[in-house]
Amino acid sequence: MRATARANTNIALIKYWGKRDERLRLPRNGSLSLTLEGLGAETTVEFGACERDRLEIDGRERTGRELERVSALLDLVREQAGLRLGARVISTSTVPLGAGLASSAAGFAALAAAAAAAAGLELSPRELSVLARRGSGSAARSIFGGLVIWHRGSRTDGSDSYAEQLCTPQAWPLAMAIAIIDAGEKAVGSSAGMERACRAPAYLHWEATAESDLLEARRAVAARDFGRLGLLAEASATKMHMTAAAADPPLVYWRAETARLVSRFASWRAEGCEAYFTVDAGPNVAALCRAEQLEEVARRLRAEPGVLRVLCCRAGGGVEILERPAAAGRPAS
Ligand code: PMV
Repeated sequence: MRATARANTNIALIKYWGKRDERLRLPRNGSLSLTLEGLGAETTVEFGACERDRLEIDGRERTGRELERVSALLDLVREQAGLRLGARVISTSTVPLGAGLASSAAGFAALAAAAAAAAGLELSPRELSVLARRGSGSAARSIFGGLVIWHRGSRTDGSDSYAEQLCTPQAWPLAMAIAIIDAGEKAVGSSAGMERACRAPAYLHWEATAESDLLEARRAVAARDFGRLGLLAEASATKMHMTAAAADPPLVYWRAETARLVSRFASWRAEGCEAYFTVDAGPNVAALCRAEQLEEVARRLRAEPGVLRVLCCRAGGGVEILERPAAAGRPAS
């Protein structure tokens, strides 16, 4: 009962920031992201390979909180499949080492797909997205490629809070250059960060505007209006970081270099290099651009002080199953 899956990470243009249900990982607002080619995780799950769940990531055995989160997701799969077997999970990251981008989005998307396949569950992409969401919110989006929306949903059981593809990478060839300013692990992760930010009065502004920003962004995608989408992405990231900075105690993810980089984009655009920034719960800056300007954007980012390296990614595809149990009767694709 073994299967392997590969998933790419994604970076949100309209951010998910705040949960309305911690256990089910239900978001307070919908979000929109770009899946990135070549930055991700490849994960093998084998049920019955050991008595208790075991987890290895990038060649190192993991225990504690990391293993608990993985086991909790495996429990959901075991429950649906009526299984009681422990699993061996081996995952490797396809994100370059030392990039500071150990994204849970790709990790939990690959885990959900591999675990479901290993257990013989035939889940639709939507059901897979709901499952991946239980591991990490942003993982719901990594099931799909290109531009992806994750619906907030309104049901209390979370069945309508799933992701969906809006646009394939071929239909709108976008890309991202990610400027690494700090490759270390962040002190306050996104879950703890959003929980703290939700209690800040500034969060009211976030809540009042996040869904309408998402609607606008959807319209911009439908119209292939790159400038509009880019400006909405910059606004969403800035607002998200404002809620964090206004929290008690304040949570400042930005470094001086982050602010300096972010301030460069408007003048680059005036010079014809059309890129828009976004910043996740950390100091690194991602630049959204059209695929044909990726090299130019990367060149400009590399020339800025404090930039350690720049990762260049085109829009990538959704989760792929690389190996399925033979009993499933399907050739590996
Ligand atoms: O689901 P998590 O824990 O990866 O949270 C993601 C939070 C942000 O990256 C800041 C925003 C987002 O939508 O990805």
